[in-house]
Amino acid sequence: MVKSQIETTLDPCIFVIFGATGDLTERKLYPALYNLYKDNHLPPQFAVVAVGRREKTTTDIQDDVVESIRKLSRQNYQQTSEDSQFIQGFHYFQLDFYDSDNYLNLERLLTELDERYQTHGNRVFFLAVAPEHFAPIAEEISNHGMAPNQDSWQRVVIEKPFGRDLVSAMELNTNISRTFAEHNIYRIDHYLGKEMVQNLMVLRFANTLFEPLWNNKYIDHVQVTFAETVGVEGRGPYYEQAGALRDMVQNHMLQLLALIAMEPPVDLDTESIRDEKVKVLRSLQVSGEDVIRGQYGPGVVDDKQVIAYIQEERVPEDSQVETFVALKARVENFRWTGVPFYLRTGKHLPKKYSEIIINFKKLPGVLFFKRGKLDPNLLIIRVQPDEGIYLKFNAKRPGTEQSIIPVSMDFCQNCLEGINSPEAYERLIFDVVRGESTLFTRWDEVEHSWRFVDKIAEGWQDDPKMVVPYPAGSWGPSQADFLIRTDGREWFM
Ligand SMILES: NC(=O)c1ccc[n+]([C@@H]2O[C@H](COP(=O)([O-])OP(=O)(O)OC[C@H]3O[C@@H](n4cnc5c(N)ncnc54)[C@H](OP(=O)(O)O)[C@@H]3O)[C@@H](O)[C@H]2O)c1
Repeated sequence: MVKSQIETTLDPCIFVIFGATGDLTERKLYPALYNLYKDNHLPPQFAVVAVGRREKTTTDIQDDVVESIRKLSRQNYQQTSEDSQFIQGFHYFQLDFYDSDNYLNLERLLTELDERYQTHGNRVFFLAVAPEHFAPIAEEISNHGMAPNQDSWQRVVIEKPFGRDLVSAMELNTNISRTFAEHNIYRIDHYLGKEMVQNLMVLRFANTLFEPLWNNKYIDHVQVTFAETVGVEGRGPYYEQAGALRDMVQNHMLQLLALIAMEPPVDLDTESIRDEKVKVLRSLQVSGEDVIRGQYGPGVVDDKQVIAYIQEERVPEDSQVETFVALKARVENFRWTGVPFYLRTGKHLPKKYSEIIINFKKLPGVLFFKRGKLDPNLLIIRVQPDEGIYLKFNAKRPGTEQSIIPVSMDFCQNCLEGINSPEAYERLIFDVVRGESTLFTRWDEVEHSWRFVDKIAEGWQDDPKMVVPYPAGSWGPSQADFLIRTDGREWFM
């Protein structure tokens, strides 16, 4: 690939994608690699090996890469000689993951490319495949000497779901750890690559305005909502194994909660931050009656009639899998005791967005009780699709009367001209290549998230209560509103 101007400090490496003909690679990885290249965030000596099962040639895969960039990249494909040199750095290798002998040929190709691109044996293995393939692929990589770890580095990147409970996650971890040391395992949670999630720590720890108030003295409660308008979109069999609890809460939502609630780390290095996140996950508590699970029925979303979950392709008619979860968690530590964390996620909801709301306590209204409603201060961190920060506070209504109105300051990051926020995968791939793992989850974070989620899931097994239906296009079952209303609060929409 063409020599980049800036990132000469990055180690040379080969980026090996298993599952190169899949959806994730096409939609996210190819465009992200192109954008990194355009922003000079790839090392000068860099090549990609796209590993796929289908019969394809290197020319085919290079055409696929260009097509995916044209369709999905945030920066336009320019067809300059430099761009075509970047594309020529992609090589295809046909492999069935279970054809052990063929890994020998893959190893030969990598060695040959090491010579050609001067990549010294440094490799990223990105497993864009279903989790049941993680361990067998890792084992073959080890058996064929592709991860020798001497005078070079080899890192593996894996996608969620990381197990379907603690036991399966532990088994998976043990298997992968036979080939890769913990510091070389990059467990992606792509939410952590989002701009506003990265902004959370800056917002908290770089502003006198917030950090002194970030505790149970001043915060009444926290809400985290991840709402999707889509349904399961043909991924019924996967969803049947996961459900909203395992698909969204165990990873993305708990990761966000940990970042919101953690103590200031002693340093901004990876392990110090992860240590603080783990402490939050260990302090998490929930009661069975504070978890509501729902499943969408037929309804109207975005002006279109949609079918019920149980009518989706390859979903059993009597499925009890939840497509919606709302819960009230507690972080039982000195800072947070008494502050509920309400989490809510679902499919086929009326609006697509992810947002964190910090609801401050109300001040006593004694001074102003005749002058209007005294609303609590709100800090909203908009994660997607809008990226920004919204702060609501009280001010005097202009005029001769001394009455009060809520006003707001609204900072929209992605509305600013010239700001074209990188996609989460760009930041994450960049971090893998430079060996920075703060935005990836360490094993003990995964472990404690599963402990929390398993407790809920076990409760459901004993609970004869069925999953509660909700019409697609609504905000979930009414029990979710009841959960927060009984505490005298409302979901912020
Ligand atoms: N898609 C997303 O947006 C997304 C988001 C978050 C996480 N993930 C996770 O990322 C992983 C990949 O998802 P995906 O949506 O890209 O899946 P996908 O579209 O089904 O792609 C799977 C890939 O694995 C290959 N494959 C399967 N079995 C194989 C075998 N025995 N030998 C060789 N290749 C084999 C497929 O090859 P063929 O093309 O030949 O079948 C395909 O390239 C999953 O763990 C998923 O949960 C995906």
